[in-house]
Amino acid sequence: MKRNDEMHTITPKFPKMLHGGDYNPEQWLEYPDVLEEDIRLMKQAHINCVSLGIFAWAKLEPCENEFDFGWLDTIIDRLWQAGIYVDLATPSGARPHWLADKYPEVLRVAEDGTRNLFGHRHNHCFTSPVYREKVRIIDTELAKRYASHPAVIMWHISNEFSGDCRCPMCKAAFREFLKAKYSTLDKLNHEWWANFWSHTYTSWEQIDPPSYKGETAIHGLDLDWKRFVTHQTADFMRAEIAAVRSIDPDIPVTANFMGMYFDGLDYYELGRDVDVISWDSYPEWHAPLGNDVIAMHESLSHDMMRSIKKQPFLLMECTPSTTNWRSISKLKKPGMHKLSIVNAIAHGADSAMYFQIRQSRGSAEKFHSAVISHTGTSDTRTFREVTEVGEMLEKISDRIYGSSSPAEAAIIFEPQSKWALDKAQGPRNAGLDYFGAIQRCYHYFWANGINVDIVNEDADISGYKLVVMPMLYLWREGFGDRLRTFVNGGGTLISTVFSGIVNENDLCFLGEATEEKLSDVMGYWVEETDSLYDGEVNSIVYKGKEYKLTELCEVIRPTTCDTVAVYGNDYYKDTPAVTANRFGDGTAYHIAANAPQEFFDAFIADAAPELKRAVNTDIPRGVSVTLREGENGESYIFVQNFLDTEQTLTLDGSYTDIVSGAACSDKLILEGYGSAILSTYQES
Ligand code: GAL
Repeated sequence: MKRNDEMHTITPKFPKMLHGGDYNPEQWLEYPDVLEEDIRLMKQAHINCVSLGIFAWAKLEPCENEFDFGWLDTIIDRLWQAGIYVDLATPSGARPHWLADKYPEVLRVAEDGTRNLFGHRHNHCFTSPVYREKVRIIDTELAKRYASHPAVIMWHISNEFSGDCRCPMCKAAFREFLKAKYSTLDKLNHEWWANFWSHTYTSWEQIDPPSYKGETAIHGLDLDWKRFVTHQTADFMRAEIAAVRSIDPDIPVTANFMGMYFDGLDYYELGRDVDVISWDSYPEWHAPLGNDVIAMHESLSHDMMRSIKKQPFLLMECTPSTTNWRSISKLKKPGMHKLSIVNAIAHGADSAMYFQIRQSRGSAEKFHSAVISHTGTSDTRTFREVTEVGEMLEKISDRIYGSSSPAEAAIIFEPQSKWALDKAQGPRNAGLDYFGAIQRCYHYFWANGINVDIVNEDADISGYKLVVMPMLYLWREGFGDRLRTFVNGGGTLISTVFSGIVNENDLCFLGEATEEKLSDVMGYWVEETDSLYDGEVNSIVYKGKEYKLTELCEVIRPTTCDTVAVYGNDYYKDTPAVTANRFGDGTAYHIAANAPQEFFDAFIADAAPELKRAVNTDIPRGVSVTLREGENGESYIFVQNFLDTEQTLTLDGSYTDIVSGAACSDKLILEGYGSAILSTYQES
C-alpha cells in the first residue's frame, strides 16, 4: 500500500489517525480496579490516544506550590505500556479552591460589575498576573516532567477558551489596547462616532466595557471590546504555549475550539498561535430539522475549522452517543456515530476523539455518554459502535492521514462582521440570520460534492475560481481591494444582500457609487433597503421559477450591471433584484434580497465556473460526497447517507472501498446512515 509519506503530519511522534478522547482518571483515583479495567477496555475499543489532565489542577497541585505528579506518572506509564498515546492538557480551564480563596482577583467580574463566586469552570480572569503566574508554574512543571515522555504527542492548551472578565485589570488592559489602536481620544471618538448623544470621551479612564447597565449605544466600543476579548484570550493562550515550549519547542500545541457557531471569539485570529486546529463537535442528531440538514450545518463548521490553517484538523471531542446539556439530549441511533465520524474525516479531520472515555459517576456530567458507561461493560451498543470506528480508523489511516481537501471555491465568513451585524440596529432587528445566509449558499456545494473553503476577510483569495460572500456587512481595511483584484483577474464573485455596508469600525461607507463600496466591480449602488415583516414576502422569477424573498430587499440603482431578475412586488416591482456585472476578466453577481436555498442551488449552478466535483454523477438528496486527495495522486471519495433509508449513488469510475477492500464501480448502495470511503487506487 502506498502511504501519504509527504503529507501534512500534525502529530509527528505518532502520525496516525487518532482515536480516543478525554479521560479523567483523577476522578477515579480511589478506584484502582476501574483504572486498570479502563486500559483493557480502551485497547478493546482500538483507542490509541487520550486527552489527560484537562481539569486536574486540584489533584496536580493540591496546595500552593506542592505538586503531586505520582498518580499521573502511573497513569501515563500504564497507558504507554498499553500503546496508548497522550494529548496532555494544561489545567487552566478550572482552578483549584485554594487559588481562588487566596487570590480572589483570579475570579471573573461580570457585566454588572460584581465578582463571581468560586465555582464552575472558565471562571478566571485572563489578565490577572497572579492567574497567569500560577498557570505558568503548573504548565512549566507539567512540561518539565512529561515533555520527554514517549507517550506525550501533543499539548492540549486549557479547554474551550471562552467568556470575558470586566475587572479593573481587564478594563486597564482594554484601554491600553485602544490606545495602541487609536493613539488619541480624538481619533477614537471619531471612529466610534462617540459624539453621538454626547457620549464623547474626554479621558481614557472613562472607557468601560459595554454593559447592559451602561453603554450599549456606541457600536464601535462593542466591536472593539469583542476584539479585545479575542486579543486577551490569545495573549493568555500564547503565555501558556510559551510555558510548555520553553521546555520542549517541538511538541505540537492545540487548543480545542467550539466550531463556527460559537461567536465569542475570532478563531481565525486564535488559530494563528496553535500548531494544530482542533474542535469539539456536538450536532443535535435526529432533531426535527432532519439529519441531512444537520449534517450540512455541521459540515460547514468542519470546513471552517479546516480552512483556518488549510490543514487537516483534529476532531477533539464529540459524544459517543448523547450529551446531557441540551433541554432534550437524544441518543445517536445505530449507525449515526460512525457516519458522523466519517463526515468529520471527509471534511478534513484526522481523528475521532470523544468526550469522554469513562462516564463520570457524579456531578454535572454524570449522564453524559461515554465510551465506558456506568455499567463498566463493553457489551453496549455504544461501545461496539466506538470499536467499529476504531477498527475503521486503523484501516484507513495509512491512506487518509495527512491528505488534503482541495477547494476551488471559498465562502467568506467573517466573525467580526457577525459581531457588528448582531448589534447593527439596522433595518431588521427581528433577526438577520447570518449563519442561515451562509448555509443557504453552502448547500449548493455540499449537495453537489464540491469542496469549499470557509475563509475570513484576511484570506488570500487569489487562487479560487469562485468566491461567495453572503451578507458580509463589515469590510475590513484592504478587503475590498482584494475582491476587486480577484474579479478583475477573472474570478467570479457572488455577494448577497446587506454586504459592504460599514468599514472595520462599523462606520457606514459614504457616497453613492464609490470604489470603497466596490461600485465599479458590482455595477450598482443601493438607494434604500426595505425590511419585511415576518411572514411578508417579495419574489423573483429566475429561469421561469418563482422564489420568495424575505427579510431585506435592497432597492438597487444600476450603473453598469445587467439585471438578471427583478422584484415581483411592491413599489420597487420590476427593479433589479439580481444583478451581474462584468469587471475586468471576471464577473460580480449580487442578490439584493434574502433568497431561499433553492434559489442559490439553481443560481450558483449557473453562475459558477466549472468546479471540481468528488464524483461526476447526480448525488441523491440526503447523500453527501466529499473529496480528499493524497500527494501520491490518489483521490479519496467519502460517501455518506444521512437518511435512514437505503440510497444508491451512481459511480463514474472504478474504485476500491478502503475499509472493506472491495472493488466497486457502477453503483454504490448505502444502507440508512451508511457510509463508504472509496479510493481511486486499484490493487494490481
Ligand atoms: C465540552 C467540554 C467538555 C465536556 C463536553 C460535554 O464543551 O469541553 O469538557 O464538558 O463539552 O459535552
